[in-house]
Amino acid sequence: MFEIFEKKESQVRSYCRKYPAVFDRALNAELFDTEGNRYIDFLATAGSMNYGHNNPEIKKAVLDYLSEDRLINGLDIYTSAKAEFFEAYDELILKPRGLDYKIMCCGPTGTNANEAAFKLARKNKKRNNILAFAGAFHGMTLGALAATTDQTSREGAFIPLTNVRFAPYDGVAIDSIAYLEWMLDDDHSGIDRPAAIILETTQAEGGINVASDKWLREIRRICDERDILMIVDDIQTGNGRTGYFFSFERAGIVPDMVVVSKSISGYGAPMALLLIKPELDIFRPAEHNGTFRGYQPAFVGAKAGIEYFCKHNLGEEVKRKEKIVKDFIEKEILPLDERLTTRGIGLLQGIDFNAIDPALAKVTIHNAFDHGLICESAGRHDGVLKIMPPLTIEDEILMEGLGIVRNAIKESLGK
Ligand SMILES: Cc1ncc(COP(=O)(O)O)c(C=O)c1O
Repeated sequence: MFEIFEKKESQVRSYCRKYPAVFDRALNAELFDTEGNRYIDFLATAGSMNYGHNNPEIKKAVLDYLSEDRLINGLDIYTSAKAEFFEAYDELILKPRGLDYKIMCCGPTGTNANEAAFKLARKNKKRNNILAFAGAFHGMTLGALAATTDQTSREGAFIPLTNVRFAPYDGVAIDSIAYLEWMLDDDHSGIDRPAAIILETTQAEGGINVASDKWLREIRRICDERDILMIVDDIQTGNGRTGYFFSFERAGIVPDMVVVSKSISGYGAPMALLLIKPELDIFRPAEHNGTFRGYQPAFVGAKAGIEYFCKHNLGEEVKRKEKIVKDFIEKEILPLDERLTTRGIGLLQGIDFNAIDPALAKVTIHNAFDHGLICESAGRHDGVLKIMPPLTIEDEILMEGLGIVRNAIKESLGK
């Protein structure tokens, strides 16, 4: 069955090259291919299946909606599905966290919502520059790509990627806060004052780099003191991934804008939101339009998804499972080679091969796949193995998957 893809699908395809199977069914943290082979999912469709594949509670809401001839695509007309989602999001997520955001429905990809965030920040502050961090990933359309640092992605643009400057992220060898303050305050630094600073609280594609709470608070302070907007890209780290609904909650900060996508629709449907402090909500009507901003089943799944998150206390569940994963890595994986390191938060954990040979991360992905596990690599030289299962993964399957990772690494190290 591979021939049709090799014959017809563009060369740009990527994940399929790592997982050479034709997938068909999926249930919570397990995928099945057309041959009936089973795979444990440590990728969660790049973080868009936090609540598990075909989560029965969310599926029921979507199926009920579909079976009643309700509206499917609505542009941005008022609909009952969107109203119910907004109400639930406000009552269950925003208000309990003391957050007062307007909700902008964007074209349904993360990169589109980041484009909206940049446009809105620039329009508010009447400045063109955006400040992002080395290691950032914000998407593949030109504006968001300009704030993305990996060379392979940037090389695809073939035009200058402009109006973004970069600073070192937390955890690098230099004091990034001091460096940032110098960049912003020295009138000979050559850096124009940015409209906004955009960051991921943990850089996922950048190699699972976790910013400290203190660093995040310092960025908030730097923004406040200099009339710069703070944008948190919570596309991959949101929806409970780090043990909090929003990843920035742990630092006790409130960003000016939050970019949300991936798992927000609960059921894997495309959906993206920009959360905006009310005073910044100054787009003219239609200034960031898009046909698919109103895919109604996504709103239905999103409402069911946040209800599921609250009902099952998923944040605490993630923290419990985080301990299981960290314990396993420390006891069973790091002893395999003293040069292996680990870092992560919640159910977003990484194993770094760079001190041995970054290529081993890819070898491990292949080995793991051969033993029935799907996982991905990220970061500098693609040398960090990423562990990112659905948050709902059963404990036994989590342990089974971790065992496969350990054995795959053993194989990669020739042990
Ligand atoms: C942090 C972050 N921002 C933006 C994006 C881009 O989202 P999309 O692929 O939906 O455009 C991603 C995707 O991986 C991401 O992880």
